[in-house]
Amino acid sequence: MKEREITIRLTERNHDELDSKDAELTAAARKAIDGSYAPYSHFHVGAAIRLDDGTIVTGANQENAAFPSGTCAERSAAFYAGAKYPGRKFEAIAIAAKDGEAKELTDYHISPCAACRQALLEYEKLAGKGIRVLMESRDSVLEAGSVKDLVPLAFTGF
Ligand code: THU
Repeated sequence: MKEREITIRLTERNHDELDSKDAELTAAARKAIDGSYAPYSHFHVGAAIRLDDGTIVTGANQENAAFPSGTCAERSAAFYAGAKYPGRKFEAIAIAAKDGEAKELTDYHISPCAACRQALLEYEKLAGKGIRVLMESRDSVLEAGSVKDLVPLAFTGF
């Protein structure tokens, strides 16, 4: 028998420790929350993706009475970016959320669901290098250097 351990390294920064590009991206994710349509969960999520030419594309969760028909903020941003700018590489994604009527962001770092991680992994493969994932909370930003870091033993294709 052999045990194997998988570890990931994350970086946590206060909002005022971000460089100007990441400050811009995280601000765009916070602003994107305004586009959330979440009458069922009342959980409002915004995401912002920076492409390799600096373009920022945002998305927000969109729910539906037929629950599985809705989509998360991350996939709404990723699929829009993929459709509008085919072939452009994703560099980084920032995510932010507010619960219900809260004025502040969540007090924990919002991180992409497993389905979004798998979808983002595909764009990471196309980019040929890690897409940085910036997960915001009210007080700080947690960074993973790549989507792969968030998907140990990922399914990578057939
Ligand atoms: N949601 C996102 O948009 N992104 C996440 O990372 C987690 C969950 C959405 C899906 C649904 O509209 C609501 O939040 C509650 O799960």
